[in-house]
Amino acid sequence: MRIVMIGTGYVGLVSGACFSDFGHRVTCVDKDPAKVEALLDGRIPIFEPGLEILVNRNVEAGRLDFTLDLAEVVPEADAVFIAVGTPSRHGDGHADLKYVHAAAREVAPYLKPGAVVVNKSTVPVGTGDAVQRMIREQCPDAEFYVASNPEFLREGSAIDDFKRPDRVVVGVNEREAETVMREVYRPLTHNESQLILMSRPAAELTKYAANAFLATKISFINEIADLCERVGADVHDVAHGIGLDARIGSRFLQPGPGYGGSCFPKDTLALLKTGEDHEAPQRIVEAVVKSNDWRKRSMGRKVLQSLDGDPHGKTVALLGLTFKANTDDMRDSPAIAIVQTLQDAGVSIRAYDPEGMEQASKVIDNITYCEDVYETMDGADAAVITTEWDAFRALDFARVEKLLNAKVLVDLRNLYEREPMERLGFRYHAIGR
Ligand SMILES: NC(=O)c1ccc[n+]([C@@H]2O[C@H](COP(=O)([O-])OP(=O)(O)OC[C@H]3O[C@@H](n4cnc5c(N)ncnc54)[C@H](O)[C@@H]3O)[C@@H](O)[C@H]2O)c1
Repeated sequence: MRIVMIGTGYVGLVSGACFSDFGHRVTCVDKDPAKVEALLDGRIPIFEPGLEILVNRNVEAGRLDFTLDLAEVVPEADAVFIAVGTPSRHGDGHADLKYVHAAAREVAPYLKPGAVVVNKSTVPVGTGDAVQRMIREQCPDAEFYVASNPEFLREGSAIDDFKRPDRVVVGVNEREAETVMREVYRPLTHNESQLILMSRPAAELTKYAANAFLATKISFINEIADLCERVGADVHDVAHGIGLDARIGSRFLQPGPGYGGSCFPKDTLALLKTGEDHEAPQRIVEAVVKSNDWRKRSMGRKVLQSLDGDPHGKTVALLGLTFKANTDDMRDSPAIAIVQTLQDAGVSIRAYDPEGMEQASKVIDNITYCEDVYETMDGADAAVITTEWDAFRALDFARVEKLLNAKVLVDLRNLYEREPMERLGFRYHAIGR
């Protein structure tokens, strides 16, 4: 199969590289010259474990390449995937579809007969119809199909998620499009992965329903964690106790500082808007969004409380800035709200993240970025674990003790246990225990 991937972000680059690893011939197109230049140079513009090796292996094998010019490659493509961003639209929370619409218009004149345009971006119900209409308006004689193929990979484990998905969801209206999509995914579905076919609107909605459900699970356990703290229970016992019930399942029951990242925050908001537009309000998800917004700032307040009620002029060391480990993605990271809350109270911040410093420096101002985790804690009045990086799981506390002004550890990811920390003389604040 000849595949073109429009957009080389987290989804486009991982999907393109994985498709080429399955043996398809893939060209990834991006309109950002810096990204394409880096990729042509063998440099990967994002941090994703295993991606560099995968990309370089397939480039060397002649199955994967990159270009700025879609006119060069779209005419050969059996499937043209659109994997561009769909951020929240400023002001109202609707998904901003300007990049998807632009990509559809750009590919329209070059589609070969029978080509399938595949929306891999997360898009509201009806976007497939809109893309079809736009291409048709521009090229009334074009013979093409439009499919929906939402992506469920997670940053940090994206390659494994893509290659061994729980399921592949495909929304198509025509048998010809189904045939192409089956061929695209044949190497995957040869294994145990299931390809599920449905209508285009059902596929579009499946992605939002999945993300909203997972965001609900996270917010649910976070609120239970707050209750655990008040009543002297350990949230991990409760999570274990409910998670073993197969109807509930144990994943996404890890308490933390609130969900963030490039998907859950914007997708829950977009689902609310779709619900409003269709007079089917999504009140549970509405509560989840409020709960998560509140939680992020409440984590900042938790840190302030650890500073003996007198935060002004103190310094806090933040260990981790990205919304989760194994990514450099800072979009909607809880660290942003935590920093804001602390700065509002007159606290200075020193911070370190193994991979997210460059992205963080674009969204968080007026903090001191440090070279390593120990330098961060030098002279700070409390250390706060914000992201669950492996590098923070076995800190040398003899060293930490000498660096900190006060032996205070606020562990927003529950990487440590209270008893050993207290034995070391630390005032230890965890979540839900
Ligand atoms: N990041 C994730 O973990 C994840 C997971 C599943 C689904 N998604 C969804 O996938 C989509 C893409 O997400 P992402 O995180 O990869 O986005 P991203 O912002 O990392 O990347 C998008 C890329 O598309 C490029 N682009 C935009 N318009 C273009 C055009 N007309 N032609 C060529 N390139 C263009 C941009 O330059 C950018 O490099 C979104 O809808 C997102 O919700 C993301």
